[in-house]
Amino acid sequence: MRDIKNREDVFTLVSSFYEAVRKHKEIGPFFNETISDWDEHLEKLTDFWESNLFHRAKYKGNPRDAHIGVDQKSGHAVDIKHFGEWLRLWFTTIDRLFTGELAERAKNNARKMSTHLYLEIYKHRPENTQKH
Ligand code: HEM
Repeated sequence: MRDIKNREDVFTLVSSFYEAVRKHKEIGPFFNETISDWDEHLEKLTDFWESNLFHRAKYKGNPRDAHIGVDQKSGHAVDIKHFGEWLRLWFTTIDRLFTGELAERAKNNARKMSTHLYLEIYKHRPENTQKH
C-alpha cells in the first residue's frame, strides 16, 4: 500500500469516505438531508483535505459555521457520538486505501478538528449562548 501523494489520491479517499458516510445509519441522514449536489461537495472536501495535508490554499470555507448550521437545522441533534462514528469511518477508509506519514496526518488532523468542531457546536446552542 502507498501513501497519499497528490490531489487524485485525496479525491479517491474523500469519494470512498462519503460513499460509506451516505450509507451509515446514524450519520448518513445528516448528509443526505443537507447536500443536494454531491459532485460539488466531493470537490469542496477534496480542496479542504488537499489544503490541509499539502498546505495549499485551495479550500475557501468555514467548517465551524457549516457545522453550527447543520446542528441548528437538525434541531440540535448533532452529538459527540456522531463525531465518533465520522472518525471511525474516516480511519477505516484511510487504513483500507493508504499507509504512511500523510495517511497518519489525515487521521490525526481529523481527530483534532472533531474536538474543536463539537465544542463550537456546543457553545452556539441557545441554552449555552445565554449563559455568561
Ligand atoms: C472531524 C470531523 C469532521 C470534519 C473534519 C468535517 C469537515 C467538513 C467540511 C470541511 C465541510 C465543508 C464545509 C463548507 O465549507 O461548507 C463539512 C460539511 C458538512 N459536514 Fe462535516 N466534518 C466533520 C464531522 C461531521 C459530522 C459528525 C457531521 C454530522 C453529524 C457532519 C456533517 C456535515 C454536513 C451535513 C456538511 C454539509 C454542510 C452544508 O453543505 O451546508 N460533519 N464537513
